[in-house]
Amino acid sequence: MSTKDVAVLVGSLRKDSLNRKVANALAGLSPASLKTEIVEIGQLPLYNQDDDAPGHVPAAWQAFRDRIKQADAVLFVTPEYNRSVPGVLKNAIDVGSRPYGQSAWNGKPGAVISVSPGAIGGYGANHHLRQSMVFLDVPMMHQPEAYVGGAANLFDDKGGITNASTREFLGKFMQAFATWIERNGKK
Ligand SMILES: Cc1cc2nc3c(=O)[nH]c(=O)nc-3n(C[C@H](O)[C@H](O)[C@H](O)COP(=O)(O)O)c2cc1C
Repeated sequence: MSTKDVAVLVGSLRKDSLNRKVANALAGLSPASLKTEIVEIGQLPLYNQDDDAPGHVPAAWQAFRDRIKQADAVLFVTPEYNRSVPGVLKNAIDVGSRPYGQSAWNGKPGAVISVSPGAIGGYGANHHLRQSMVFLDVPMMHQPEAYVGGAANLFDDKGGITNASTREFLGKFMQAFATWIERNGKK
């Protein structure tokens, strides 16, 4: 099994983001066959189709599209904003999806972990994200589903996950994702 490059997109720009803590923790919980790297999205200008013409494309859009195209798989770690996907993450999805016919997402295996201090673990964001990915032809891992609730109490002061069952669950999730990538990724 060759090592797979997994682009991790975090749907929060907050300095002390719980989602970023989970994303950071995944590196130590993943099987050796996965190399996870957070791909930043906060620097991407808001998508404007007027700028998506040769000679106009913002450098940050191009770099992001190139990075996603290079990845073997994408993993979204996101909060829920108003029962949906935060605008910053939706913007990144839109930027990566264009120009028409050249989507960076096309056919790339994906997965989502939603993280919230609330009890239902970002369920709404998790499923709205899946809706966009159906259109973008990203095979999203079905099981296990990951709705991480009560996340404000999950970490120690160094960002480590204190709850053993959450660590174990995320390890199993990443193991399943490795299998999903092998089955659904480009051969
Ligand atoms: C604009 C906004 C909308 C929010 N809407 C929801 C929501 O619909 N469901 C939820 O569980 N939490 C909601 N929250 C609370 C977030 O889950 C909480 O701020 C969380 O810590 C954000 O993730 P982060 O720690 O990675 O930044 C919202 C927060 C903001 C700022």
